[in-house]
Amino acid sequence: MKKIQLILFGIGNVGSTFINQIIQAQKVFQQQGLEIEIPIILNSSTAFIKDEGVDENWKANFVDFGLPYQVEEIIDYVKTKNWQHIVAIDATASSEFVNNYTNLVENGFHIIAANKVANTLAYDDYEFFREILKENKKQFLYETNVGAGLPVVETIKNLHQSGEKVTKIRGVFSGSLSYIFNTFSEENKNFSDVVALAEAKGFTEPDPRVDLSGTDVARKLLILARELQLTYNLEDVKVKSLVPAHLAETTSVTTFQENITDLDEEFQLLKAELNENEVLRYIGELDVEKEILEVKLVKEQKENPLGALQGADSLFEIYTESYGNQPLVIQGAGAGAAVTARGVVSDVIKLAERIDCCN
Ligand SMILES: NC(=O)c1ccc[n+]([C@@H]2O[C@H](COP(=O)([O-])OP(=O)(O)OC[C@H]3O[C@@H](n4cnc5c(N)ncnc54)[C@H](OP(=O)(O)O)[C@@H]3O)[C@@H](O)[C@H]2O)c1
Repeated sequence: MKKIQLILFGIGNVGSTFINQIIQAQKVFQQQGLEIEIPIILNSSTAFIKDEGVDENWKANFVDFGLPYQVEEIIDYVKTKNWQHIVAIDATASSEFVNNYTNLVENGFHIIAANKVANTLAYDDYEFFREILKENKKQFLYETNVGAGLPVVETIKNLHQSGEKVTKIRGVFSGSLSYIFNTFSEENKNFSDVVALAEAKGFTEPDPRVDLSGTDVARKLLILARELQLTYNLEDVKVKSLVPAHLAETTSVTTFQENITDLDEEFQLLKAELNENEVLRYIGELDVEKEILEVKLVKEQKENPLGALQGADSLFEIYTESYGNQPLVIQGAGAGAAVTARGVVSDVIKLAERIDCCN
């Protein structure tokens, strides 16, 4: 039986769902010869330790027995144990936490991240961390960085590593923006009302400008470009923000919410310009040959996969030499705690397979 110990940083939406999925899937893991435990769970201030792995009572135990911690203390504690395969799971959204990655890897941890920050650092830092991983023979998996549980990162990596020439990647990378434009195109509603609807359904961030500014889509596009060993930085992505300058992030969320109807006229005009068989979509696009990375609003034919998108689905079109003009398409829920946590579990299984021979 191969034993893997997971140290889980972040017990919010994704982290807490992940714990429950790990506990519930024990039998399935055992059938694969795996024993997977989570002996330490942490939020930004508190750690709860149970050497034999947390159980169904983890939430109450965390409240009752959790203690303040420093990451260094956690590393020292783990070193006192005779654990063979240790994985730090980053289910935070913290840039500060990413500063611990090098230290964790140098102290024997593999890393699995839902957090996108490490993969969107300046390219030199991105490269430096990969060197650290290589030197320490440690794995870093992050499938959920793009498209949550959808197998986007792995597919692109596999195509590239097998010598396939990926020429273009385009798609709707964000569940919230998918919902906003799918609804706005279909229904006779003001743009601001549709954004409010998306907020009410919990699709947007508490500050919807995080979605509407296009930065999150730009990050995902950059992560995919880097899988093709392209050395771009975030500044290389040309982003059409949907937030007007006078309501940009220098103003408060309240000011933005109070004035969100300022967006309505522009979007109504854009809608009026559409032909009967067209819809608006907010997409990310990487054109490898033209060296263009863009986040933009486009008109799509309703019968095309992007135009036919429904609900809050994400969709990724991958164009390669062998697939020709018909792209490989990956579509499905691109956000949500359940699919994201399952994507993280799937990374744990992948990691278990990889360390089979070599560690
Ligand atoms: N939700 C999705 O659909 C989705 C999809 C793909 C990827 N992701 C990514 O998954 C990650 C987690 O998302 P979420 O929705 O679960 O976020 P969340 O509900 O806000 O939870 C974040 C967790 O991280 C903890 N945390 C923050 N800073 C920390 C630090 N320095 N050290 C340890 N723990 C820290 C928070 O603890 P405190 O409560 O103490 O602050 C909280 O427990 C994010 O990076 C997100 O972008 C999410």
